[in-house]
Amino acid sequence: MVKQMGYDFDNYLAEIPENSLKHDAVIATNSSDVSGFLSMGVADMSFKPPIEVLSTLENEIKRGFLGYYGGIESYRREVTKWLKTKHDWEPKPEWVNTAHGLVAAIGTALRAFTNQSDGIIIFSPVYHQFRNIIKSNNRELIESEMIKKNGRYYLDLDNLENKMKGNEKLVILCSPHNPGGRIWTKNEQIEVAYFCKKHNLILIIDEIHNDLVNPENKHITFPRIGDDCFQNFILMTSTTKTFNIAGGLMGNVIIPNNSLRDKFQKANFATGETPNRFGMILGEVAMRSGHQWLSDLLIYIEKNKKIFDNEINKLNNLVSMKIDSTYLAWVDFTKTGDTENNNFQKLKYESKIISNRGSTFGLGGDNHFRFNLATSTELVKKSTERIKSFFD
Ligand SMILES: Cc1ncc(COP(=O)(O)O)c(C=O)c1O
Repeated sequence: MVKQMGYDFDNYLAEIPENSLKHDAVIATNSSDVSGFLSMGVADMSFKPPIEVLSTLENEIKRGFLGYYGGIESYRREVTKWLKTKHDWEPKPEWVNTAHGLVAAIGTALRAFTNQSDGIIIFSPVYHQFRNIIKSNNRELIESEMIKKNGRYYLDLDNLENKMKGNEKLVILCSPHNPGGRIWTKNEQIEVAYFCKKHNLILIIDEIHNDLVNPENKHITFPRIGDDCFQNFILMTSTTKTFNIAGGLMGNVIIPNNSLRDKFQKANFATGETPNRFGMILGEVAMRSGHQWLSDLLIYIEKNKKIFDNEINKLNNLVSMKIDSTYLAWVDFTKTGDTENNNFQKLKYESKIISNRGSTFGLGGDNHFRFNLATSTELVKKSTERIKSFFD
């Protein structure tokens, strides 16, 4: 299962259980035979998490204590150590707050820092839950559509500035970006910081994908762009994507600014949340012991991406974007000349591949599809063959 020299991900696959979103997505096809579907939508990896994570959970079960969580100081120290080692930035432990996942944390931040009808800016196409949480908190969704240049996304702050109405209060930047996998350069992040400073906006930087970067690339965590540049930011990170433990539902909300931190903590307290014991324990052990797993994983995923892109980009009508990070391919189907809906149905019922449709990611996403490549190379190859046979 685990090779002496590292992880053999071809043989380190988790079973997909009935009580999972990945399985629900297959059931939602309403097909009589669901066995042949490739579930490449939901962003859970197909792999088991690091072996130490599994053995820790087994040990917890053996001990038989399933009560409330304690030990946050140890968890916080591990977060600061992780960020220092991996991202060259060491927050103070007391800056690290936790939440039941980053989407929940964004909701709490919206309530802490903004009022109903305030404008919240996102850079589309982007992770669909941003718009859901903004809308369901009755804030105004402001989408700044990114520009696609030479097959890569760029922020369009000039256009955004021209559209500003005066009610904008907060910006959410996904860094690295999902979908499209862009790693924002230091200069691009400085531009965002100055934009926020100029317009008196609070900035949330969602860095949930910060560890999932191609081995040859480097993500720059926002606080490293320069200490005195801009203080009104909230950095969100998590172990859940990095180590495939999203069911642990936890995330880190790191706020160096005292006044922002105080406001966030009050709003978080008002939710009644206390840490999920299992998520916290698994996250901590993953940070402590998951280094080998992660570095092997990144090599494996990069190989999958190359295979996928290479095969898909041979087709005249499809363009798979060059991705710097994440394990999510983003493919443009507009040249097929068919609608997103038809392409979606074709992918689902003819190719038997479940993907995420681009329009759910907002402006600029229409007729793109997102495919999760954190799965076996065999399955990635199978998916390209199926796509080829129906879209060539
Ligand atoms: C950018 C981004 N933020 C947040 C999440 C989800 O975070 P959580 O499960 O902690 O709510 C995802 C999941 O894919 C994501 O891509």
